[in-house]
Amino acid sequence: MAEQKATNITWHETTVSMEDREQLLNQKGCVIWFTGLSGSGKSTLANAVAHLLHERTHHTYVLDGDNVRHGLNKNLGFSPEDREENIRRVGEVAKLFVDAGTIVMTAFISPYRVDRDQARELLSENRFVEVYVDCPLDVCEERDPKGLYKKARSGEIKEFTGISAPYEAPDNPEVVIDTSKLDIFESAQEVISYLEKSSLVPSS
Ligand code: ADX
Repeated sequence: MAEQKATNITWHETTVSMEDREQLLNQKGCVIWFTGLSGSGKSTLANAVAHLLHERTHHTYVLDGDNVRHGLNKNLGFSPEDREENIRRVGEVAKLFVDAGTIVMTAFISPYRVDRDQARELLSENRFVEVYVDCPLDVCEERDPKGLYKKARSGEIKEFTGISAPYEAPDNPEVVIDTSKLDIFESAQEVISYLEKSSLVPSS
């Protein structure tokens, strides 16, 4: 848990509410939280879902692990503590996006169940959709899009998820997608179907 350091701070209510913004945008803000191994297809899938929703005139945003680590989280590495802080910040940023009325997709390994659950707790029920991108390790390693598994096997990269650092699969994700069995369009459609079924977006 992050410590509350500042004292003498007061919460200010905003004049334009989340409901006002959602009405203007004609959608409900929510987080679609993709979790899975490196190379499982989280970013590709998040972007495919964003593309399909954008075509339907929804306002979306993708927060991607590699990208966020270039800016906001550039001071964090891959120790368990740094990954926890990475996910804590992303959860808070995602919450701001939801408050803005956006459908935000997060694509982070987010290997620890407790950290993902804390991100979930920041949001109202039904506004957090956990998508487990369940691709077998050997397939991710075979894909090795960034050549990182090779480096992890040789010991050049330490604490690599799936090889020398843990990955805790979700117990109760809203959606499970095996990207070794479905193609990208089918995978994205599965996510969209869930959003429709739970009335987060209207059916097309
Ligand atoms: S997380 O574990 O803190 O959620 P995050 O999704 O932000 O990770 O970043 C993962 C990406 O960083 C991977 O897709 C990979 O490109 C890169 N990376 C570099 N080092 C590691 C490592 N030791 N373990 C996992 N991913 C790593």
